[in-house]
Amino acid sequence: MINDLNEIKLKVQEYLEQLSYFTATPEHGITRLPFSKEARQTVDYLKNIMKEIGLDVSEDNAGSVIGKFNSEEDNTPSIIIGSHYDSVKCGGNFDGIAGIICGLEVARKLKEKNIKLKYSLEVMGINDEEGVRFGTGFFGTKAMMGMITLDDLSKYKDENNISIYQAMKEYGLQPKKIVDMSRNTNTIKSFIEIHIEQGPILENNKKDIGVVEYIVGMQRYIISIFGRADHAGSTPMEMRSDAMETASKVIGNIGEWARSENNGTVATVGYIKSFPNAINIIPEKVEFSVDIRSKDSKSIKRVFDKISENIKMLCSEYGTKYAIESKLSELPAKLNDKLMEQISTICHEKGYKNQKIDSGAGHDSLVMSKHVNTAMVFVPSKGGRSHCMEEWTDYEDLAKVIDVIYKLVLDLNHQ
Ligand code: GLV
Ligand code: MN
Ligand code: MN
Repeated sequence: MINDLNEIKLKVQEYLEQLSYFTATPEHGITRLPFSKEARQTVDYLKNIMKEIGLDVSEDNAGSVIGKFNSEEDNTPSIIIGSHYDSVKCGGNFDGIAGIICGLEVARKLKEKNIKLKYSLEVMGINDEEGVRFGTGFFGTKAMMGMITLDDLSKYKDENNISIYQAMKEYGLQPKKIVDMSRNTNTIKSFIEIHIEQGPILENNKKDIGVVEYIVGMQRYIISIFGRADHAGSTPMEMRSDAMETASKVIGNIGEWARSENNGTVATVGYIKSFPNAINIIPEKVEFSVDIRSKDSKSIKRVFDKISENIKMLCSEYGTKYAIESKLSELPAKLNDKLMEQISTICHEKGYKNQKIDSGAGHDSLVMSKHVNTAMVFVPSKGGRSHCMEEWTDYEDLAKVIDVIYKLVLDLNHQ
C-alpha cells in the first residue's frame, strides 16, 4: 500500500520537468533522438536516479539503460518495467519517458519498504522506440530480443547519411556485438509498460487508467520515385518524367484506401523530400514515407498492395521508376490476458476507474509481447494530444498508475 501519493506526484513532476531540458529544440518541444547528445544527457540523468534509489545500474549495447533491484533468490527471471527515453521531433514531455520515471518510483517504493523480491525488478529506459532518426522503430527491444542484425546497422541511415552502425560507434557502443546482446526469454518473467494514452478515449470516458488489450500492427516504408531533371519552363508536358507528379498522385489516394478498410486502419505520409528541390527544376527524385497501421494485418497488406500496384501503373504512364524499401513490419498483438485481469482487479480494489483499450500507437510492448508475458497500461492524455509540445498528462494520474503497478509487482512476487 502506498500512502504518500502526493509526495510521489511531486517527485514525478520534478523529474519530468528536469528531463525536459535535454532537448535539441528548446522552446519547440522535446527532440531527443537516439545516440545524440540529448540521449546521453537523459541516460546519465536516469542513471543518477537509479543510483539514488539503490539499483544496480548498467547500459546495454543498444543504448538502453537498466536499473536492477536484485531478488533474494538466484537464477529467477526478472519483471521488467520499461518504456522509451527517445522522442519524436518537437514532441512532448511525457511520451515514453513518463513510463520510465513511474517504473523508477515503483522500484523506489519497494526499496524504501524493504521488500524482499522473489523476482528481480529491472526498470528499463529503452532506446530508439520511435524510429524517427533512421525511419525504423523499436530498436532497443528488438536488439534485446535478438532481432537486429549487423546488416541492419549499416542498411538504415539518417537524413545526414549516418548509419546506425556509425551512430552507435560515435555514441560509444560496440555495433559489431549487436547480436551478442540477445537475451534469453527465460530471464524475463513479464514485461510491463506504463505509457500515456496519446488519444482522447480515457479522458472522454473519465477513466483513470486504460488496460491495453490490443496494439496495432504496423508497416513502414520509404518509397522513392525516380524521374528526370529538366527545365521547368522549356520542357513540354508530354516530354517530362516528373517524379513529383507520380508521387503526388499515389500519395493523394493513400488516405482513401485506409478509410475504405472501415476498421480503424490508418495510413500516413509524414515525410517527403524532393530532389534537387528547386522551383524551376522538374524533380528527378521524390522520396516519401508510408506508415500503415491496423488491428487487422490483412488490412495493412491490402493498403500496401494498392499503393504498390498504383505506383507501378503510374510509373509506366509517366515514364518514371520506383523503389520501395521496407523499414518496419510488425504484426498486431494481443497482450497477456492474465496480467490484464490482474491489473483490472487492482484498479477495482483501489477505486481507480479503468477500462480496456486498444493502442493505435506502436510501443515496445508490441515487440515484447511476441516473446514474453506483456502488459501495458495507459494514463489519460489531455485533449488526446501527443507527438506535439502540447502533450500533457496529470502528475496525479501518473501517481495512481505507480500505485497500481507497485501492487502488481508485489502480486507477481507472490505467485
Ligand atoms: C510511436 O509513438 C508510434 O506509434 O509511431
Ligand atoms: Mn511516440
Ligand atoms: Mn511512446
